[in-house]
Amino acid sequence: MSLIQLHHIHFTYPSGFEALNDVHFDLQKGEKLALMGANGSGKSSLLLLLAGVLKPQSGEYRIEGEQFRYCRKWRNKLCRQIGYVFQDPDVQVVSTHVQEDVAFGLRNMGLKEPEVNRRVDQYLELCGIAGLKERAIHTLSYGQKKQVALAGVLAMEPQVIMLDEPFAWLDYRQSQRLHKVLNQLADQGKTLIISTHSSDFASRWADSIMVMKEGQLRFNGHPEALFSDDQVVDQLDIAPLMVEVEKVV
Ligand SMILES: Nc1ncnc2c1ncn2[C@@H]1O[C@H](COP(=O)(O)OP(=O)(O)OP(=O)(O)O)[C@@H](O)[C@H]1O
Ligand SMILES: [Mg+2]
Repeated sequence: MSLIQLHHIHFTYPSGFEALNDVHFDLQKGEKLALMGANGSGKSSLLLLLAGVLKPQSGEYRIEGEQFRYCRKWRNKLCRQIGYVFQDPDVQVVSTHVQEDVAFGLRNMGLKEPEVNRRVDQYLELCGIAGLKERAIHTLSYGQKKQVALAGVLAMEPQVIMLDEPFAWLDYRQSQRLHKVLNQLADQGKTLIISTHSSDFASRWADSIMVMKEGQLRFNGHPEALFSDDQVVDQLDIAPLMVEVEKVV
């Protein structure tokens, strides 16, 4: 059975803008999915929908075969199953201090303080920001805040982890560390969804790629099938692989 199924989802923002137009796909457990598409194509809207934040006007969202219900109980349940690291950490980070922020979700889950403290230390270390533990959030750089948001989500140990443009704003070392963390999570059998503008990363890392264009899912398949067709890549407004560019140069 598929882990996640979207059936003919339509979502329109209150402004009247239709951000998701008949989006339809199945995702398997343990899959590594890269979500691509131009600015404004609907990637973040799709992730917000999968996180239960946006409610579609029509269509069905199923998790392990069960239709998602838009009530507090189901949203709380979803939070434990699906972790979502927002594109903008300022939307996600809720506390005044780093350790409080990473502990926030853990306390909401009802974990006891020794376990909360253990996980805070473990995931700050994993994300390479143990040195920021005592810092006030407002003193952090944007990239550091992104790492805090990531640590907070990973600490909840969800089965599905969705990262919205996680490499944006990260320096070379932090990007390397994130690659390592992603490999560890994949080895643990987690299902990973990453929104990215990097064709090279998507082609190397993902089992499958979905490309959004103007709110529609326009490609869903194997990276090789996508990047072997230059015309399709161009039509979908995504970058060709750098290796190809080097060949041309
Ligand atoms: N709250 C909102 N109200 C109205 N329209 C919105 C809202 N949020 C997003 N949109 C619109 O929905 C469309 C899809 O936006 P979304 O953020 O999902 O795109 P994206 O693919 O994540 O883009 P990017 O690569 O820039 O992050 C855009 O046209 C955007 O302007
Ligand atoms: Mg986005």
